[in-house]
Amino acid sequence: MRGQKATARAHPNIALVKYWGKRDAALVLPHQSSFSVTLKPLHVTTTVELGTGTSQVELNGREALGQQRERVLALLERIAQEAGRPLGGAHVASAGNFPVAAGLASSAAGFAALAKAGRAAAGLGEDVAQTSRLARFGSGSACRSIQGGFCTWRRGVRPDGEDSFATQDFSEAHWPELRLLACVVSAAEKDVPSREGMQATVETSPYYPAWVEEAEAEVPRAREAVRRRDVTALGMLAERNAWRMHATALGADPPLCYLRPETLAVVLALQAARAEGCPVFFTLDAGPNPVLLTTVDHVSAV
Ligand code: DP6
Repeated sequence: MRGQKATARAHPNIALVKYWGKRDAALVLPHQSSFSVTLKPLHVTTTVELGTGTSQVELNGREALGQQRERVLALLERIAQEAGRPLGGAHVASAGNFPVAAGLASSAAGFAALAKAGRAAAGLGEDVAQTSRLARFGSGSACRSIQGGFCTWRRGVRPDGEDSFATQDFSEAHWPELRLLACVVSAAEKDVPSREGMQATVETSPYYPAWVEEAEAEVPRAREAVRRRDVTALGMLAERNAWRMHATALGADPPLCYLRPETLAVVLALQAARAEGCPVFFTLDAGPNPVLLTTVDHVSAV
């Protein structure tokens, strides 16, 4: 059977309230909800062709092998099942318009674009909730990249994960003045990938239960700060949440430290800039590169 072909695009997202830890690894279900902003100028474009006989996965012009390839094909397998057809092989080609080394979670945009393109190629109708659920299986954070603007991934309570997906709270038109700046202090691959790091934290950090409770409570506060377009409230919240994620990771055994001396140098410089009246804040994923939050008027100063 000759397959169908479809192309889709998705943007990376940066969590302002982070996802850190799974309650179910197989279904990629988080312990807590998370909240993110989508980075519109950056995108990943993915083309999927189904029913090609043999499978081939190309990421940024290079053939993906091993786990990377398996994760892509496993997601397409799910889509084929939903469509009630055999996968019959697939060709996937995916490329981003930004450097992977910038630490901007290209996997979130990649799996989101893959879920969209895969569903379209399989002839499944548009359904943002279902596409988000599906992207979650590729990478948890990918479920927040199906739509733009500001999105919440609600943890859900069902053991089958049907209520664990992301929805959009505000479109990008809500706050056009907000700016995020990637601050690359190290382009080196991180030592411990998020997936392993969060699992070790769940299993060994005595601070983990406190993280879960606090992060869950911050999500509605983050939404409220965005609703009011209050960069200081949102920025302070994002910093607090990033510190707490890193604190719980530092509490793992062995400790997980994603920070580098340069990371702290940036954090201290931001505090100095704020003391001089410049509203600039940071967030930090599982790596050394902060992402800065400010508004359009302050971009050149930052
Ligand atoms: C620190 O979504 O990459 O960026 O679900 O295991 O693939 P898996 O993890 P992933 O983890 C992202 C962790 C984070 C925070 C966030 O984006 O919410």
